[in-house]
Amino acid sequence: MNLFYLEEIDSTNKYAKEHINDLSDKTVVYTYRQTNGRGRLERKWSYLGEDNIYASIILKPSEEMKEVYSNLTQYLCVILAQTFEEYGVIPKIKWPNDIQTNSKKISGILAEGVIEHGKLEGLILGFGINLNTKKELLEQINQPATSLNIETGKIIDKEIFLKKLLERFCLMYDKFIEEGFILIKNEYIRRAGFLNKEINVKVFDNTISGIAKEITDNGALKLIDKQNKEHVLLIGDIL
Ligand code: BTN
Repeated sequence: MNLFYLEEIDSTNKYAKEHINDLSDKTVVYTYRQTNGRGRLERKWSYLGEDNIYASIILKPSEEMKEVYSNLTQYLCVILAQTFEEYGVIPKIKWPNDIQTNSKKISGILAEGVIEHGKLEGLILGFGINLNTKKELLEQINQPATSLNIETGKIIDKEIFLKKLLERFCLMYDKFIEEGFILIKNEYIRRAGFLNKEINVKVFDNTISGIAKEITDNGALKLIDKQNKEHVLLIGDIL
């Protein structure tokens, strides 16, 4: 992978989007200071200091959109979980692609696609990882959050973590593009903390409540509501 470092930027995803034609496949844009990070559902991603990771992977697998690309966030999520495990923590996946440890968020992924004149110019997988943060800063976030240094009691070397993560990402990437979600299904389910629990899922402007029953072979979430109606969700966010 090519690493592209920016000292300060508003958002690595926004930068990647704006420069998509100048960035080659498998480039990673990362910054020490992200001043206006964005999250899913119009949320913002707080800047917690330069010892954390703010980065975007640019991928250009083909010129047309394929179904498997929408599972890439789940692929990155499993890779992130495996990397956290190397540090001795127990990560839990919150569908589709949040990672929590001890019920607190430790990383988030924001995927975006750039399509111009019907041609896929690139996919952007933005990720933020709380590696080294102070408790006081985390308390200012409007949801329970933690960081790897707090979970392990050790200072985490950012460059080493990023290297481990990107190496893992590359290892299975081509196979994943070929075979799809089924390749990682077991690894994903093994860490899914929401299965067989009652959950609320936000899908655009609706909220669907029910028991999370299953993750399908293509990464969708199967939910059974109180009326016993089955919902198969390909997009959404567990609230
Ligand atoms: C979420 O959990 O809602 C997703 C958060 C994604 C944050 C990362 S930080 C690097 C990249 N640039 C952004 O503006 N957002 C992503």
